[in-house]
Amino acid sequence: MNEEISLRHKASVGFARQARELIISRLEDPEFTLSVSEKTSRTDVVTQIDKEVEELLAHNISVKFPDDAIIGEEFGVSGGNGLFEWVIDPIDGTTNFIYGFPAYAISIAVRRTTDLKVLSGVVLDVPRDRLYEATQSGGSFANGKKLAVTNQDNINDSLIGTGFSYSSAVRIRQGEIIASIITKIRDIRRAGAASLDLCMVAAGELDAYYEQGLKPWDYMAGSLIVTEAGGMVDGGFTAHPTEDMIVASNSKVHSGLLELIQPFH
Ligand code: IPD
Ligand code: CA
Ligand code: CA
Repeated sequence: MNEEISLRHKASVGFARQARELIISRLEDPEFTLSVSEKTSRTDVVTQIDKEVEELLAHNISVKFPDDAIIGEEFGVSGGNGLFEWVIDPIDGTTNFIYGFPAYAISIAVRRTTDLKVLSGVVLDVPRDRLYEATQSGGSFANGKKLAVTNQDNINDSLIGTGFSYSSAVRIRQGEIIASIITKIRDIRRAGAASLDLCMVAAGELDAYYEQGLKPWDYMAGSLIVTEAGGMVDGGFTAHPTEDMIVASNSKVHSGLLELIQPFH
């Protein structure tokens, strides 16, 4: 692995672990009260911890890699005009975090600015303290154990993950897709954190996953973890994921899933 990437990947792991410590220390503080505010809608909320974590990550990145740019969910784009760009979701699964539902993660991707290739991906499952990581051509791992997608080749026997947008208009369309495909697959799962849904495909805990309306910080690190585990990620009807659609799978049921969602494209 290129020295520059290896440096950034190792740093990502350290930064994610430090961010997890911050979250755990806040949750363990008996004086702490969580403040929640609305963003784009009643259902789209943010806590002060999301912001604190992003500040911590951005600070660490800018001190160690001052030429790199940072794109974060809460504070947008900052700094850097160098070769690398960090794409971060400080807490993916904020609704779960607020409820203590055990599925939320810190997601950090590093990509090259010249061709936008994602070179490193780290997703740290905070409640389970499970670190998913991948580097380009280096494989995917969870707490050091190599990951591999399932061998399922029949979409009708597949367990499929998905998620729902914060926009009501998009949710209505998403409900229609579910109603149409639920009788043609094994079952649906909605865990509430896109980065972890992708890691579940990589780990063979889901055969495939699709969602409409994600942002790059939701899927960038998890997508590399899927492809490095032998899976496939695209935008369904485009070569790369877009905010319109992401489809990730073990590759064998990919076309079968696309056929099911095609009528809604
Ligand atoms: C959300 C989660 C959720 C997905 C939403 C995302 P957030 O991210 O990944 O699973 O369905 O589309 O926005 O807001 O918790 O960072
Ligand atoms: Ca997110
Ligand atoms: Ca988030």
